[in-house]
Amino acid sequence: MQTIHSIPDLRAAIRALRAKGKRIAFVPTMGNLHAGHLALVERAKRSADAVVVSIFVNPLQFGAGEDFDSYPRTEERDAALLAEAGVRLLFLPSVEALYPHGQAGCTRVMVPELSDILCGASRPGHFVGVTTVVTKLFNIVMPDVAVFGEKDYQQLTILRRMVRDLDMPIELIGQPTEREADGLAMSSRNGYLSAEERAIAPGLYRTLCAAREALRAGQAPALVEAEAIERLHALGFVPDYVSVRRAGDLAHAVVGEAGGLRILAAARLGRTRLIDNIEA
Ligand code: PAF
Repeated sequence: MQTIHSIPDLRAAIRALRAKGKRIAFVPTMGNLHAGHLALVERAKRSADAVVVSIFVNPLQFGAGEDFDSYPRTEERDAALLAEAGVRLLFLPSVEALYPHGQAGCTRVMVPELSDILCGASRPGHFVGVTTVVTKLFNIVMPDVAVFGEKDYQQLTILRRMVRDLDMPIELIGQPTEREADGLAMSSRNGYLSAEERAIAPGLYRTLCAAREALRAGQAPALVEAEAIERLHALGFVPDYVSVRRAGDLAHAVVGEAGGLRILAAARLGRTRLIDNIEA
């Protein structure tokens, strides 16, 4: 595996792969890799000849007071895991390399509406930061296919919309969420949890599963959501939202709608904001 820090060097390495006729899969990450990321890499390997991974903690997608500074940076360990997983190129740019003129005046890419609901409502500007950096990374790597985790289901939906709206010739693949044995969705932010919080955390997934059962039993989405919020409070979470949405466009589910639904949730546990979602 070759580790590359500059955009021109990465472009040259990609050109060399292209000259050999290689199909390229791309997995963008913020590092601190866990089994969920490695599943994305495995999926990428199955769909192309060469896998490119980026590690970049993108300041543009963190709000004021969020965890940009404390976000875990474990690049040496990450690089060893990616080399072992058979990744061809690791792109590790600095903030200055990606935002040479600063962030304030940087051109933004925005997917309206979808970026303002659910997590976008409590993290204003977050998804604009994501779509902007992913567009930049796509323009640098120019992959045939890119793999994202379904754990960030709203992010995946927004990126699918962006690729479609901007006619980007890139196939997006969503990879199912990897879970710990007790059901907790794998996330770099799980490392923030205290032992006591870690014991409570799988309650988020269990709450989603109970909501799915209630929906399947014919309960109205609004009632399912209200009961799930109550359950999260009782477990010790501070819930942000639990919402039953149409899987394709994240529109609200209507009473009696069955199939093609997704239940999404976000909740705080101490200082940690956890998100999860399941197919309904
Ligand atoms: O999902 C993530 O880790 C990030 O949002 C992404 C897609 C790498 C963009 O910074």
